[in-house]
Amino acid sequence: MNINDIKTVAVVGAGDMGHGIAEVALLTGYRVNLYDIKDEFVERGRDRIFSSVAKLVEKGRVPAELDEAIRNKLLKTTTDLAEAAADADLVIEAVPEIMDLKKQVFGDLDKAAPAHTLLASNTSTMSITEIASATSRQDKVFGLHYFNPAVLMRLVEVIRADGTSDETMQIGMDYAAKQRKVGVYVKKDSPGFIANRVNQAPAVLVAEIVERGEIEPEALDAFVRAMGAAMGPCELTDYVGIDIMVNVSNYFAETLGAEYGPASHLVAMQARGDLGKKTGKGYFEWIDGQRPAIDMTRATSKFNFLWPYMVQVNEASKLIQEGVVDTMNEVDLAMINGFGAPVGPVTIGRQISKWDLIDGLNFLADRYEKDIFRPTHRVLAGGHKF
Ligand SMILES: NC(=O)c1ccc[n+]([C@@H]2O[C@H](COP(=O)([O-])OP(=O)(O)OC[C@H]3O[C@@H](n4cnc5c(N)ncnc54)[C@H](O)[C@@H]3O)[C@@H](O)[C@H]2O)c1
Repeated sequence: MNINDIKTVAVVGAGDMGHGIAEVALLTGYRVNLYDIKDEFVERGRDRIFSSVAKLVEKGRVPAELDEAIRNKLLKTTTDLAEAAADADLVIEAVPEIMDLKKQVFGDLDKAAPAHTLLASNTSTMSITEIASATSRQDKVFGLHYFNPAVLMRLVEVIRADGTSDETMQIGMDYAAKQRKVGVYVKKDSPGFIANRVNQAPAVLVAEIVERGEIEPEALDAFVRAMGAAMGPCELTDYVGIDIMVNVSNYFAETLGAEYGPASHLVAMQARGDLGKKTGKGYFEWIDGQRPAIDMTRATSKFNFLWPYMVQVNEASKLIQEGVVDTMNEVDLAMINGFGAPVGPVTIGRQISKWDLIDGLNFLADRYEKDIFRPTHRVLAGGHKF
């Protein structure tokens, strides 16, 4: 089987990611069966696709004929999983991040889909190998991890589980390329894969600084924005959702070690129901969903803008040591295309001397009592540059 055999794609779960993943496939001419558990969910996903494609037509980025084809023949919606899977060559799952739910869906898909059909998960962090264990076709199960919003973000992490075949991985990489995405080959199924794993290190650092009351969220965000970022780290946490941050951090704590876990102020915010933008309050107030006004005059002078990059480079070097990626360049590709960063952490890390990096990481590890910031063997040997 090769990429030309993929003609119909089923997307399971029509929420934020599922509708975007379906739209990307439709925009590149694939037939898509969009499935969700209730009519209202699948209809909402369909309407989001239609309105997004209409905007692209208005901007002249998509021909009107493709819009018409999507509406009239390429997109099929259903609440019957067997119907969604029946003629699919590739299924992409985007249901909530709950392992038991994903395993149940993959078990059902394994029974409903034809024998040749590839099954991919869009999980952000979880083990593809464990998800695949619910099927009798582990060679055909892999990860296809899109970034939000899927239509705009160019990265797709293509993840190899323990049983995934070379052929399946090749089709996954080719499928990413067909959609004009940047596919990054993730050689080993490891928590958070590349981009989310590398991002967890600065998330832990920032949360620790706020937890200790060293810098207030507004002062930190003002500083980071003054350095050119579109959003500060605390606002971004609110935007993503405190609950998502806590759940993801708990997953990292269980799989990689307790130091990756959530700071207690985040757990307390979750317990209070202060979940960020979606509830109107997190680190900041989000009145009517509007971005918080950050007082830029409050920018802190206590934060070194290189710290987040240092811990990211260190985390990236662990991915090489663990056999998840081959080169540091792939980490930059993932960070730039997954999050829209103008430049990757590795490129910045290469400008820092080996000794400054080692000293900086040891300082952070001592000050915040976190061994996850200690320089790796690779960094100690200067290998962060390669
Ligand atoms: N939101 C992000 O930024 C992001 C980015 C990358 C990956 N992801 C991952 O994508 C997946 C989906 O996340 P989301 O943000 O789209 O969530 P979401 O809550 O917006 O959408 C999930 C959808 O799945 C549906 N669903 C629930 N149970 C189902 C079932 N048994 N079968 C089919 N559909 C079912 C829900 O009705 C909902 O429409 C998660 O694994 C998440 O970790 C999310």
